[in-house]
Amino acid sequence: ENNGYIEGQTLPSEPTYIKGVLIANKKYPLPKDYAPGENVEARAAFELMAQEAKTLGFELVAFSTYRSYEYQELLYNKYVERDGKENADRYSARPGYSEHQTGLAFDIGEKGREDLWLTEAFGQSEAGKWLAENAHRYGFILRYPKGKEHITGYMYESWHFRYLGVELATKVKDSGLTLEEYLGIDK
Ligand code: DAL
Ligand code: ZN
Repeated sequence: ENNGYIEGQTLPSEPTYIKGVLIANKKYPLPKDYAPGENVEARAAFELMAQEAKTLGFELVAFSTYRSYEYQELLYNKYVERDGKENADRYSARPGYSEHQTGLAFDIGEKGREDLWLTEAFGQSEAGKWLAENAHRYGFILRYPKGKEHITGYMYESWHFRYLGVELATKVKDSGLTLEEYLGIDK
């Protein structure tokens, strides 16, 4: 095992569903050719959430959603070159391992505050705080919370939200658990 990955693991031919939930993490990769595109239901939910946010004074932007295997490969290699593999593995998924490849992960920021995109500080902004507290009402959860790197495999990402549908997102939020813990796949 290294950085949360299982040594020598190869990509599967089918994606993994645990209790009916599509999972993509360091232990459960996706097939290389799994390419569903951006999830339509998740996009519709995001737009509704953005509408409410607008009435509160901030414009939400989903600046990265679906990413193909090939695009994730490009990104990951770029980060490895910049920061080294050990560091890159803490914030970027290897190709085949990104939740973005499911089409259900939305990186969210605020229009006009591009300086906060992909930063921890976004979590302290009004928009970031509102999202953390309210995204579940639209079916999204904050996927990589602070202090849970040993479970999720990734550093705190104030901007990365996973669509689960309102019912499950609300249950996960209320549980205070990460998705891995909630599904019982954290060990
Ligand atoms: N930044 C997240 C972990 C990803 O690369 O999918
Ligand atoms: Zn993300």
